[in-house]
Amino acid sequence: MFHIVLFEPEIPANTGNIIRLCANTGSQLHLIRPLGFEMDDKKLRRAGLDYHEFAAVQEYDSLENFVEKVKPKRMFGVSTKGQRYVHDVHYEEGDAFLFGPETRGLPAKVRENLGQKYVLRIPMRPTNRSLNLSNAVALMVYEAWRQLEFKESV
Ligand SMILES: C[S@@+](CC[C@H](N)C(=O)[O-])C[C@H]1O[C@@H](n2cnc3c(N)ncnc32)[C@H](O)[C@@H]1O
Repeated sequence: MFHIVLFEPEIPANTGNIIRLCANTGSQLHLIRPLGFEMDDKKLRRAGLDYHEFAAVQEYDSLENFVEKVKPKRMFGVSTKGQRYVHDVHYEEGDAFLFGPETRGLPAKVRENLGQKYVLRIPMRPTNRSLNLSNAVALMVYEAWRQLEFKESV
């Protein structure tokens, strides 16, 4: 359905939750190295994942490497620095959503390369810093999938 791309994720429990989310929404998960954990980390496995959910995760040495291999239709950065709201875009099957690392967010260079139009923010109260990464991914995927009328769901 969609491509979820985690740029240099740091916290295994978040990635564990996101692996399960992707399995449940038919999204493909891509991880850009370096990762802040090993893929067999206990905290990641605590999400209670099945073998097939783990096996579906792809890893890449760089974002460029991901783009070359997957050639996503469109790629949106999801960042607290976005100027456009996630609910103001019409999504299409095959779109990719790129999320930043937990402590640093998406680097400025990556956001610049995407272009302002392709960097999206999720509404929050003004005095707060950010959502948890796995919550942000869940909100993004469900908004995009909702627009496709939850295609292929039960
Ligand atoms: C814990 S946040 C990173 C916080 C970082 N200090 C920042 O300001 O981007 C981890 C990731 O979750 C996503 N995220 C969290 N809150 C968001 C929001 N309100 N809008 C868009 N993305 C958000 C972004 O991809 C972010 O890089």
